[in-house]
Amino acid sequence: MRYTSLLLGAFATLAAGSNVERTAVPKHCTKLPSDLELKNQTYVLPDPFHFLNGRKVKSTAQWQCRAAQIRELFEKYELGYKPSKPPVFSSMFSNDTLHIVTGLSDDNTITFSVPIDPASKQTKKKKAPAIIVYGGTTVPIPPQVATITLNVDAIAQQNDQSSRGVGLFYDLYGSSGDTTAGALMAWAWASSRIIDALEAHPEVGIDPQRVAVTGCSRNGKGAMVAGAFDERIALTIPQESGSGGDACWRTSRDMLVNQGLLTQTAQEIVGENVWFSEAFDYFGRDNYTVGLLPVDHHELAGLIAPRGLYSTSNVGFLWLGGWSCWECMNAANDIFTALGVPDHQGFSQDGPHDHCAFPDDQRSEVAAFFSRFLLGREADTNVFRTVGNWTFDPSWTPWAVPDLS
Ligand SMILES: *[C@@H]1O[C@H](CO)[C@@H](O)[C@H](O)[C@H]1NC(C)=O
Ligand SMILES: *[C@@H]1O[C@H](CO)[C@@H](O)[C@H](O)[C@H]1NC(C)=O
Ligand SMILES: *[C@@H]1O[C@H](CO)[C@@H](O)[C@H](O)[C@H]1NC(C)=O
Ligand SMILES: *[C@@H]1O[C@H](CO)[C@@H](O)[C@H](O)[C@H]1NC(C)=O
Repeated sequence: MRYTSLLLGAFATLAAGSNVERTAVPKHCTKLPSDLELKNQTYVLPDPFHFLNGRKVKSTAQWQCRAAQIRELFEKYELGYKPSKPPVFSSMFSNDTLHIVTGLSDDNTITFSVPIDPASKQTKKKKAPAIIVYGGTTVPIPPQVATITLNVDAIAQQNDQSSRGVGLFYDLYGSSGDTTAGALMAWAWASSRIIDALEAHPEVGIDPQRVAVTGCSRNGKGAMVAGAFDERIALTIPQESGSGGDACWRTSRDMLVNQGLLTQTAQEIVGENVWFSEAFDYFGRDNYTVGLLPVDHHELAGLIAPRGLYSTSNVGFLWLGGWSCWECMNAANDIFTALGVPDHQGFSQDGPHDHCAFPDDQRSEVAAFFSRFLLGREADTNVFRTVGNWTFDPSWTPWAVPDLS
């Protein structure tokens, strides 16, 4: 595998994104049954290393099939389907801004523009890396990295339930009924179109295989989905994303129902906003139905492997489910470990501090991830820490970690 090292030293090989948005599902992979029977599993996380039919994942090739299955399960039950690059696509770069026109036919197009700051980071020899920022960010971005700002709210609104189907993405797809995507998936689609435009415009000087994505809180949930659904994204940095991001639904539910801690759960989230698809409402009907979901967020994070993932968490807000994030991201690390790249995933939990502020003690950590995944330098990305008074409870992950590297 091209990302894994032979583990010759302390640092694994430098990594970059793939050159395709989504690897075609190999023909030999088993298709998802249309009449899938949902198992009720409330107190363990779904096993990433077994197919739905119970077959064990034993090789890299089988992991490709399993990852494709997990992606489809997220699309079907939680996020909605991500449309591929539309047939009509053109882009223009002017005034330090990338203008994208895309659509299903010549008379059904949308236009959106993203500023790139600063635009000409590239040297004569080398294109520059960039980071797609959802809304705004406090993440300290290295000076070599250009910032591309995506106004996610214009792509898919996220005010409350009345935002369902509102935004440019739905101007394009809503009327034709082609998609079930909730807001998070609509933003992921827009991020992919930005990378398409970077590929089409070498003169912008940005390397499309050295692109990161970040967002905080609700936009952090979105950053995680973007990273999981575009293999070109080299580094994903969800900041304080909580439930629906780097917390698992089942562990968040456990906090609320069994530990009496008021945190965000699937049941709350389906009523609050339109981040997820309408299909997910089924799993948020009450405090138990989330146990029927055939995937959970350790697997969403695992879809990012072997690319880079650094997520942060703030114990200052119970709502963000600190304990749940810790359990979930530890479970996710089993997938990075299976692929031979445990240190391509970092998780850093501190606080209390203001929501979405970037604390000083995380600066060197995020800098190491930028170095390794965007700047092509060696760096120690062994980051897994919490200030929380909790330890990982392995009863959530009753599986053996295979060697798939
Ligand atoms: C160029 O971009 C800046 C910043 O986005 C904007 O204020 C300005 O109006 C733009 N100029 C033109 C000619 O479009
Ligand atoms: C879910 O559990 C919480 C905490 O026990 C409770 O306050 C809430 O009413 C429950 N929701 C439903 C729909 O039962
Ligand atoms: C799932 O199992 C739990 C007990 O483990 C039970 O309380 C709950 O009602 C079941 N949920 C569904 C949707 O069957
Ligand atoms: C952990 O426990 C210590 C001592 O009781 C307390 O001061 C601290 O606030 C706790 N940390 C968290 C994140 O709950």
